Amino acid sequence: MLLAEQRYTLDDREIILRSARLDEAQMLYDYLKTVTGETRFLMCEADEVNYTPLQEEEFIKSHNEAEDALLILAFVDGEYAGNCSFEGRDGSRRESHRAGIGIALFQKYTGFGLGRMMLNVLLREIKKSGFSQVELTVVDGNERACRLYKSLGFKECGRIPNANRYDDGTYADDILMVLQW
Ligand SMILES: CC(C)(COP(=O)(O)OP(=O)(O)OC[C@H]1O[C@@H](n2cnc3c(N)ncnc32)[C@H](O)[C@@H]1OP(=O)(O)O)[C@@H](O)C(=O)NCCC(=O)NCCS
Repeated sequence: MLLAEQRYTLDDREIILRSARLDEAQMLYDYLKTVTGETRFLMCEADEVNYTPLQEEEFIKSHNEAEDALLILAFVDGEYAGNCSFEGRDGSRRESHRAGIGIALFQKYTGFGLGRMMLNVLLREIKKSGFSQVELTVVDGNERACRLYKSLGFKECGRIPNANRYDDGTYADDILMVLQW
């Protein structure tokens, strides 16, 4: 799916939300390398991000062309700030009401309401597409994300103990959350 450009103002800053262009693959790769190094709450370590520019292009293309997926980029005063996305489960009809989501911003753009704005737009698009259940995984200890998700209506529905083992030998659970309409 494609999201046509939308403009908002937040904290006196101009926000643009839109789908990605294929020529932004390198920008998305660089972003992933940076954000995974900025927090322990994303899916891997920065040195494990090893996509080729072609794979990144495929990622953009698949989200733009699929009817059950959407990738939304956010720009703050013209600068790329991060993205969020959803993907429908591509299993059986029994699972076709379920969408999974993810979001990550550069640290410098966190904490001023952008995440909430992006997720409101994403959830609106998911609902419009006919999904009745949205699912996500969040690492235990990611208080900002948990607070945001709960305030949007997500409820904790399970936990995988010690799902993440870090290089320093510590562990963190994964919390599973679900939003149902
Ligand atoms: C998680 C993330 C998407 C949230 O977006 P954000 O723009 O930073 O969040 P918002 O500014 O919209 O704030 C969300 C809520 O968290 C609260 N919050 C902000 N900083 C907080 C902190 N350090 N601890 C706890 N709550 C915090 C805000 O007050 C707000 O709640 P409120 O509206 O009830 O006051 C963003 O911080 C991010 O990308 N972080 C890094 C990657 C990540 O963790 N991704 C999520 C993986 S599941």
